[in-house]
Amino acid sequence: MATLAELLRGRTLAPEAVVEHLQRLVGSCGILSDLSFSDLLLFVPISAPQGGFVVVGQVRPTTSQTLHLEDLLGREVGDNERPLLARAWSLGSVVEGEVPVAARSERARVVCIPVRMRGDIVAVLTREAPLIVGRRAGELERVYVGVFDRMARMVVAGTFPFPVDEPLSSEAPRVGDGVMTLDGSGRIEFSSPNAVNALHRLGIYRGILGASLAELGLEHTPVPAAFHQHEPVSEELELGDVAVFVRCIPLLDQGKVTGALVLVRDVTDLRRRDRLLLGKDVAIREVHHRVKNNLQTISSLLRLQARRLPKGDGRHALEEAERRVRSIAVVHEILSRDTTDEVHFNDILPSLVRMAEDLSGAATPAQVTWSGEAGEMGAQVATPLAVALNELMQNAVEHAFVAPTGHGGEHPDPGPSNGGAPPHQGAEAHRGAEAGTTVAHGPDQSREPRVHVSLSRTGDQLAVEVRDNGSGLPAGFSIEGTTSLGLSIVRGLVNSQLGGTIKMYNDRGTVVQFVVPVSHSDRDELARI
Ligand SMILES: Nc1ncnc2c1ncn2[C@@H]1O[C@H](COP(=O)(O)OP(=O)(O)O)[C@@H](O)[C@H]1O
Ligand SMILES: [Mg+2]
Repeated sequence: MATLAELLRGRTLAPEAVVEHLQRLVGSCGILSDLSFSDLLLFVPISAPQGGFVVVGQVRPTTSQTLHLEDLLGREVGDNERPLLARAWSLGSVVEGEVPVAARSERARVVCIPVRMRGDIVAVLTREAPLIVGRRAGELERVYVGVFDRMARMVVAGTFPFPVDEPLSSEAPRVGDGVMTLDGSGRIEFSSPNAVNALHRLGIYRGILGASLAELGLEHTPVPAAFHQHEPVSEELELGDVAVFVRCIPLLDQGKVTGALVLVRDVTDLRRRDRLLLGKDVAIREVHHRVKNNLQTISSLLRLQARRLPKGDGRHALEEAERRVRSIAVVHEILSRDTTDEVHFNDILPSLVRMAEDLSGAATPAQVTWSGEAGEMGAQVATPLAVALNELMQNAVEHAFVAPTGHGGEHPDPGPSNGGAPPHQGAEAHRGAEAGTTVAHGPDQSREPRVHVSLSRTGDQLAVEVRDNGSGLPAGFSIEGTTSLGLSIVRGLVNSQLGGTIKMYNDRGTVVQFVVPVSHSDRDELARI
């Protein structure tokens, strides 16, 4: 839809301030149209030479039927076509009359209201409705039209629309939601049935006519501020769970507040929905937080228990179990920070790397680095991925740099060897390096122990590589055939749980590569079904 400024372009030289005034007027036309049960059109004169007017605003009432079925925005009319309009423009006062409606075989009543801004007439607002003969208006209609007439006089006087830009949300009340009118001293003159209901929700049952909202026991209403500031003020009133949005629009006459239009809307259900949505997000975060806490407790218990065992297989197994649990806790830690159930896997990596470095510090200080982006993924992918990566990084720091190169076929010693073995990149040599002395590394001294993790995401595919420059895999090793726990876990996670493929081979050290499909969270998957 064309904006007001676009409609004016090339047709008139209206200054910026006038355009803003007209924009605010069109913004308020919903209320004016509903109050008058009529279509409203806003006309701006076209600059000479051709003259005439262009329609820059069209609003239909929600309280009544519309007169104009067609879209009139941008339509140009000549002075002869709309003589009432031209008269109102040149006289600067309201002109009324009956006109035939070309598209229908009926007549319409048209009221032309000149729009004044800082003393100048800048546009004409017309109220147009089918002529209804023989139908008597009820009280509600009379009150609404009465308010419209007062606001129309404000338009002519240049006091409506108000100079302030009131940011109105889609929740702001409209005429259909509930209307009250106040007199010049803020007492209720009229209340529509919906407004009465809203007051009931706020606990007010006594007769309301003739009383002010404050006398009815409502504190903090927008009425005093609106009367004082001569501009509309909105406020949300609450009583327990009930929430009612109140907007007070003062009606001015010759610089004095002579009354007010108060629009009210029961927004209790909207607020309840907001609270539910907010509550659900908070609850999801809380659950992740608790899962993380519980996993950390389990991991601490395992650590305590491991410490009580003498060094050896049993203790080693418990320490491994402790790290596996901790790698899952890391994922929940990240999930508990946000309300989404997606995680950026690169946020998880630093914790996993730190765990591997801690382990290597004890044996061989290998440098663990990473590169690339894994992107976002659901928790159901991130968790097995974290466990698998943890396992592979641990293996690299644990096994790659302790065995003598060229080790033939058997499992290397789990512990650091310092017996008669030649000085390789063993623990002893590196402790020396840590202390800042130059230590001979033996035949492999050019190689600093390094582990590198590369991640690469293409669409829904994630490729991961864990590469070290250590001793390489034992001869005859195959990932398919291995029965040891750590790599069996990795194989199971990659092949079965993640539905990917994995390979391990020697290339100046050990290289592990796997590719897995990375779908988004369960929620997205459900949405796709
Ligand atoms: N990066 C690596 N460098 C050298 N050897 C490795 C590497 N990764 C795994 N291995 C070998 O594979 C074996 C099986 O690993 P794994 O299943 O994790 O069991 P564990 O770590 O408990 O020994 C290890 O004992 C080791 O011999
Ligand atoms: Mg292992």
